[in-house]
Amino acid sequence: MNDLKELFEKGRWYHCFRHDELISNGTYDVANYIGHYKFDKDYSGKTVLDVGCSDGYFSIWMKEHGADRVLGVDSNKYDGSLAFVPAIAFQKNHQEKYAQYADDYIAFRSIYDKYGLNNSNKLLLMNKVMGLNVEFSQGTIYDLSPFGQFDLVMCNDLLEHLRDPITAIEQLYLATKEKCIITVSSALRTKWFDRKRPIALYQGHISGGSFFSLSEEAVKAMCVSAGFKKTEVVSRFEMLNRRYKTPNDHFVLHAYK
Ligand SMILES: C[S@@+](CC[C@H](N)C(=O)[O-])C[C@H]1O[C@@H](n2cnc3c(N)ncnc32)[C@H](O)[C@@H]1O
Repeated sequence: MNDLKELFEKGRWYHCFRHDELISNGTYDVANYIGHYKFDKDYSGKTVLDVGCSDGYFSIWMKEHGADRVLGVDSNKYDGSLAFVPAIAFQKNHQEKYAQYADDYIAFRSIYDKYGLNNSNKLLLMNKVMGLNVEFSQGTIYDLSPFGQFDLVMCNDLLEHLRDPITAIEQLYLATKEKCIITVSSALRTKWFDRKRPIALYQGHISGGSFFSLSEEAVKAMCVSAGFKKTEVVSRFEMLNRRYKTPNDHFVLHAYK
């Protein structure tokens, strides 16, 4: 356990994980907000795809709640590079951000080596630490066809970072057998505009990595256009960004095939 202490406290984490007495120093402590996602109590017999899984908190949660098979997919190659070419607006930002994963591996290499890992993928690390069998693949939301179909597909806090959320939602639809759960951060509150029509506000020129602020109505409309039969916003909440100490507006949408 002691060898993990330094990595939990000083490593580069997106999610907070609790293990023994330790809490990893993540940007988001999702455990405090898990009720907002309105997940089922038990996912026994289900297959789950977690697109843009990052450190894999949600993938691991699904496995711990009975899912038969969980696959996390992320474009991060954890060696400082990306599985896709970032938009011009964010190239510098992405280079800096993803370089931190390579630095993390160098800084804590002895721990990663001990767990048989050759990069700083935290999902795979926590998988080993917790003795789970969550799967991970590099890939992009723009082409989910290599991964097949899953009962539940999740896409949390990714759409707003994409230059093309419409193609992304179409891909989520194709990968979904039953249900898709989409969470959007940096969300637009429709009431700011006092109307219900779909709104996507372009933020790429001023934000640190988000292309759009999306309204609930915008994401619902995109889901319906992609083919989902029913959509429902099940919650709205603020999640604390622990790095910047700022609240981040979220909504959670459930879409049914
Ligand atoms: C803001 S994080 C959200 C992480 C996690 N889903 C959550 O809700 O806490 C977005 C993740 O999506 C990944 N990502 C960015 N573009 C992607 C793409 N085109 N395809 C798949 N993953 C992508 C990033 O590397 C990052 O890990």
